[in-house]
Amino acid sequence: MNTRSFPHRHLLGIQGLTAPDILSLLDLADGYVEQNRSVDKRKNLLRGRTVINLFFENSTRTRTSFELAGKRLGADVINMQASASSVQKGETLIDTAMTLNAMHLDVLTVRHPDSGAVKLLSEKVNCAVINAGDGAHEHPTQALLDALTIRRRKGRLSGLCVAICGDVLHSRVARSNIHLLNTLGAHVRLVGPRTLLPSKIAALGVEVFHDMRAGLKDVDVVMMLRIQNERMRGNFIPSVREYFHFFGLDAEKLALAKPDAVIMHPGPMNRGVEIDSDVADDVERSLIREQVEMGVAVRMACLDQLTCGLPETAGGV
Ligand code: CP
Repeated sequence: MNTRSFPHRHLLGIQGLTAPDILSLLDLADGYVEQNRSVDKRKNLLRGRTVINLFFENSTRTRTSFELAGKRLGADVINMQASASSVQKGETLIDTAMTLNAMHLDVLTVRHPDSGAVKLLSEKVNCAVINAGDGAHEHPTQALLDALTIRRRKGRLSGLCVAICGDVLHSRVARSNIHLLNTLGAHVRLVGPRTLLPSKIAALGVEVFHDMRAGLKDVDVVMMLRIQNERMRGNFIPSVREYFHFFGLDAEKLALAKPDAVIMHPGPMNRGVEIDSDVADDVERSLIREQVEMGVAVRMACLDQLTCGLPETAGGV
């Protein structure tokens, strides 16, 4: 029997969550890290529950880790790629959701290219809904796994200075991280060219830098973002070569951060565009592989907590 400490029906974003909401998920996820490192990775907490992962966009990390998370908790897990579903025959998002809802599922995990699509869908179904990334809006489980990764390495989040660098404009990861880090008392800097930083972003309580060397000075964490070509309409950078020169993370720019600063990236990485292989693969300072590991544990914690609030009989039509 799991104990409920996360008082929300869905996980649609970090915005609106309190520090205790976030910390309860991180504390629970810490326990799941240990479970995942043991030989016996399975628990029967979600036995009888059904989880569907509905992805309208490509994914390696998020989809696989939600599948592993559900299976390690004993749930029945179905993966649906929209490109191989009746969406291709013209079925709408809502009709797709209502169809799945009629099958008495317990948790629906959704990734969609449009901001707000996952919230809309959550209003139409009886099950718990988790946002696995909606457009440039939010990617809450990514921010949670990033926070867990930082906390395990640094021992805290409060008081740390975190530089989020690159294509913030199109990044749901940046938005979720800004909300989470602000809520937990970290100081957030955004670093990037004017074309890739939203004009009013400072209103979110962050410091903005257009010079990467200044932005990285004395930071504790450097979080790099991919250029998200799939969400771009038009040209935002003069050339990849020039972008890497000014905003790519390499050893020389990293030297401006604190000597024990760590390197993070949500993935997928574009080596030689936003990050140099030497720093991405630095075994002492790069936490990129740990982020992937934490992703499974965080998603187990989310499934654990969201199923706590469900009735014993699953919802449906
Ligand atoms: N970080 C992240 O969301 O990766 P995927 O697109 O591979 O899921």
